[in-house]
Amino acid sequence: MSMSGGPVELRLRAAVESSPSGLLMIDADGRIVLVNREIERLFGYAREELLGKSVDMLVPARLRSSHPGARAGFFAAPRVRTMGAGRDLFGLRKDGSEVPVEIGLTPVATNEGLFVISSIVDISARKRAEQRFRVAVDSSPNGMVMVDATGKIVLVNREIERLFGYAREEVLGQPIEMLVPAASRGNHPSFREAFFNEPRARSMGIGRDLFGVRKDGTQVPVEIGLNPIETDEGLFVLSSVVDISARKQAEDERRALEEQLRQAQKMEAVGTLAGGIAHDFNNILGAIIGYGELLFSEVGHTPSVAADIAELLKSAQRGKDLVERILAFSRRQERVRRPLDLGQTVSEVHQLLRATIPAKIDVRVAISPATPRVAADATSVHQVIMNLATNAAHAMPNGGRLEIDVEPFYLGDSAARARPGLREGPHTLLVVRDTGMGMDRMTRERAFEPFFTTKAPGAGTGLGLAMVHGIMHDHLGAVELESEPGKGTTVRCLFPALAVEASEAPAVAADAPRGHGESILYVEDEDSLARVGQRRLVALGYEVVVATDPAQALQLVRSAAANRFALIITDYSMPHMSGLDLAEEITRIHPHLPILMLTGYMENLPEERVRSAGVKHLVKKPLTMVELALAVKQTMG
Ligand SMILES: Nc1ncnc2c1ncn2[C@@H]1O[C@H](COP(=O)(O)OP(=O)(O)OP(=O)(O)O)[C@@H](O)[C@H]1O
Ligand SMILES: [Mg+2]
Repeated sequence: MSMSGGPVELRLRAAVESSPSGLLMIDADGRIVLVNREIERLFGYAREELLGKSVDMLVPARLRSSHPGARAGFFAAPRVRTMGAGRDLFGLRKDGSEVPVEIGLTPVATNEGLFVISSIVDISARKRAEQRFRVAVDSSPNGMVMVDATGKIVLVNREIERLFGYAREEVLGQPIEMLVPAASRGNHPSFREAFFNEPRARSMGIGRDLFGVRKDGTQVPVEIGLNPIETDEGLFVLSSVVDISARKQAEDERRALEEQLRQAQKMEAVGTLAGGIAHDFNNILGAIIGYGELLFSEVGHTPSVAADIAELLKSAQRGKDLVERILAFSRRQERVRRPLDLGQTVSEVHQLLRATIPAKIDVRVAISPATPRVAADATSVHQVIMNLATNAAHAMPNGGRLEIDVEPFYLGDSAARARPGLREGPHTLLVVRDTGMGMDRMTRERAFEPFFTTKAPGAGTGLGLAMVHGIMHDHLGAVELESEPGKGTTVRCLFPALAVEASEAPAVAADAPRGHGESILYVEDEDSLARVGQRRLVALGYEVVVATDPAQALQLVRSAAANRFALIITDYSMPHMSGLDLAEEITRIHPHLPILMLTGYMENLPEERVRSAGVKHLVKKPLTMVELALAVKQTMG
């Protein structure tokens, strides 16, 4: 074939030469007979180096062996087509590097035989763009799934792999429905069809809770945005999938907190009201009983009158008992909390229960060893157990099993955050479980309300659980209920464990600075803490006087000589008088007496006030032995 000659041929040659595609013509033997400028640029050869050579020199070695066969195939059935459809093609450059290409083949019949023109397009720029696109898609924090009109997954990013637990090979080419929960799977294709019929960007399932189903079958709450994508290959939908489980959980927690708060406020209000009434009522009953007794002593010798008055007094006494219970839950009673072994208390109550619970109920008590002690009022704890056990017995009129467990329990951080008033840390759990009739939802929700009862009028006052609730609140703990109709009831009472066990033997670290018999007044209302503090300080070489209330401390300071104490250590939060007020008083008496104040985690005291009260040093509890030793030394100066 000759390309030289007439003007048409010349123009053709110019067109070939300046084509932006590389053009390369070969004969049936695979020899290169024509190349254009772009081929030279693309492969880095001068045309003299190419003409007459086998085209295989432009094919990477790893693909070369299949090339002659493919070429023979083409010459056997010549037609215009693209080469290696669907496969990635590469050209081999003179410098040995490879270039991604797209190749179109056109057979050219001439009187010199059949030739083929390959038009070769450098697609490295496109590949780079694709690569960049892939990186962008992959590093998106949103999950991305692209689906074609038949619902097949054609693209997923890394977040989708993470979220659904599949490797991308496992989902590519699969129907998108594999990621849809079974319940919605049936409707999904019709939704998809509707979307493709009227494609516009929108979010999916507005107002509905959407879930994705993971490889392991679990579901994850998601938010899904749909975007139509027009491509040469047709319409696709690109879904962005956002994992909202963290948000959902936070919402649930917030809702639970609000509900608890609402409940607590209600209890508080009713408690205050009832407490106020009970208080007045108590005085009224006092008068009735007082006058009743006077009346009895005056006219009691008449038998019929005596019996009437006795009835009257009995009723008044019942009223007093009731008032007593109301006062108990409305927290108008003083309770003294002391270190208490809950297990031991339960054992004591167990004896009592034997006498009061019907014999057809099997009572089992399980106390795990090594449960930390709690700060509690024994009488209150008795009331809690008796109330819960009585409720359980009432729920099992035909017999059943009543279990009471005491066990250690560590309250985790998130569990603590979900329960206002509780803090992360070791607790002791009192569980009262029955196999009785259980409660329906309405009962469950209102069970702790004062005066809520499902019992017949006169049979129950509905104060039992309200009282338990009040007592647990007072003990900085919580009570929770788990119950289903027919499945029995479990009540859990959570007591915070004593921060520092009094029995803990203080070990003195070698590097702790020690005292030399200086005298320290240690003010701490919590008995057990006071004892630990004392033992630690003694072990550190100080003489220690303990005061368990601020009034007593003041008394001691007032009656002592100015140099009796080298240091005052006081807790901040104490009943009747805060550590700050105490410090102020002490400073007024002995202006130069150094004061060290310990505060809990929660209090945030203004520095100004702390200084003006004469507190030289403020440290947060709990303290290690060394921290205490250092704080003492520093404060004494
Ligand atoms: N263990 C339980 N099993 C089933 N229902 C219970 C249980 N404990 C409490 N309830 C339900 O909660 C309601 C309120 O209990 P609560 O102890 O406060 O009052 P009460 O038992 O009805 O009366 P009171 O305790 O004052 O005699 C009960 O009436 C009952 O419906
Ligand atoms: Mg009760």
